[in-house]
Amino acid sequence: MAALVRERYEHLDGRVFCGETPDEVASWFDEPLPESGGDLGELLLEVKAKVMDTATLNIGSNMYAYVMAGGNQVSVAADLLVSAINQNVTKWHLAPALTELEKRVIQWTGQFVGYGPAAGGAIVSSGSAANLMGLTVGRNVFLERAGAREKGLFGMAPTVLYASTETHGSVDKSLDVLGIGSDQLRRIPVDADFRIDVNALREAIQTDRSRGLQPFCVVGNAGTVNTGAIDPLTQLADLSEAEGLWFHVDGSYGGLASAVPELADLYAGMDRADSIALDYHKWLYQPFEIGCTLVRDWAQLERTFKRSASYLDTDKEGGGRFDINEHHFQLSRSGKALKVWMSLKAYGTTRFIDMMRKDVELRAYLCRTLDAAEDFRVVSNGPLAIATFQYIGSLEPGHENRIAALNASMVPAIERDGRIFLTGTILDGRQVLRACIINHRTQQSDIDFMVRVLREVGQSVERTR
Ligand SMILES: Cc1ncc(COP(=O)(O)O)c(C=O)c1O
Repeated sequence: MAALVRERYEHLDGRVFCGETPDEVASWFDEPLPESGGDLGELLLEVKAKVMDTATLNIGSNMYAYVMAGGNQVSVAADLLVSAINQNVTKWHLAPALTELEKRVIQWTGQFVGYGPAAGGAIVSSGSAANLMGLTVGRNVFLERAGAREKGLFGMAPTVLYASTETHGSVDKSLDVLGIGSDQLRRIPVDADFRIDVNALREAIQTDRSRGLQPFCVVGNAGTVNTGAIDPLTQLADLSEAEGLWFHVDGSYGGLASAVPELADLYAGMDRADSIALDYHKWLYQPFEIGCTLVRDWAQLERTFKRSASYLDTDKEGGGRFDINEHHFQLSRSGKALKVWMSLKAYGTTRFIDMMRKDVELRAYLCRTLDAAEDFRVVSNGPLAIATFQYIGSLEPGHENRIAALNASMVPAIERDGRIFLTGTILDGRQVLRACIINHRTQQSDIDFMVRVLREVGQSVERTR
């Protein structure tokens, strides 16, 4: 296994995507349920051929699609160790060290975003789960205040949540899961920098109140998925406070970069959020899957999730034991936090901050390069490490539909080409290409390579259209 891992790390410059079809890949696994065991050596060779050698190169420096960080090697080792000791961090006496270590990781994470000592949180699987958990706590605090904690939303006037049109779909999904319903998500327009329009937000809250609806939450973005925009968080904190609303920040993509000193001003007000969603498998370069919900007041998690069960409440005389299940939706959980703890100790925050800064600088470099080229135009440039742009090739600026169609055709062509992996999105109704630079291995020469490949693919698509 170590040899397989080493070999993978030694070949990070190959095709980013294997290029096979779903039918082909499904055919590799088209086999009956095995009745008896097989040879482990052969099994590893099969894993090498079917899984390792064909894996999309998320860990390589040419991955710019979605938000795909590269993992880091200390955390890879940590995941193996966690599986080997098979701890269940649900109850303190099942995993004493991993429980205390997880609490420490949460407290350190609070320091990243400027939270005080009362803050706490929960390690979760992802940004989506982190949003769901933060909004669950927010909903329950609202229900408590309304004297309806046990009754739930049943029979109430609709409760409404406000977020910009650039907000990630996991917020919408969370409302669905929470029984609040997507209709109660007010999608507030954004300004030219894709930041929420606070005046429009204020008006929407007043309109809903005048209709007898119940505003309960404002979601701010600390790095949107499309462009990395950061909402004016101080204004959102002020407004939420004045209106008595839960203030949740989705920092899944960008929240941890608030620790980069020269970016800190952009995040002013984030430390006033009631809850924050963060994702270590994005900008803390962790292997999937690990995220975190922070809450400004740790006791709120306990009020939401603590339940008694006779078979669990057996060791209550053990003073000071912190049972994570009482602060979490899940009961059984692995000690995921070990990888964050180990990599923070192995590399130190300075190194992580340097890597985030490098990613941000590479985005600026990419935009400078594209600005200087006649066949590209930048659509959004910052403030974090996502750039959106269009290849215009030989088309005249102004032929917007044709430019949009060209860029739409380039996305599958880039995938077929296989040298880099980059996808697109729609901004202001326009098809654009989007690069998210979030791999500690990516360097300036990789950005030059990306632009060269994009130009070659763009020219080839233009010729065939
Ligand atoms: C801003 C934002 N929020 C939430 C998510 C969801 O995170 P995950 O994919 O870890 O569920 C993403 C994912 O890219 C994101 O960028």
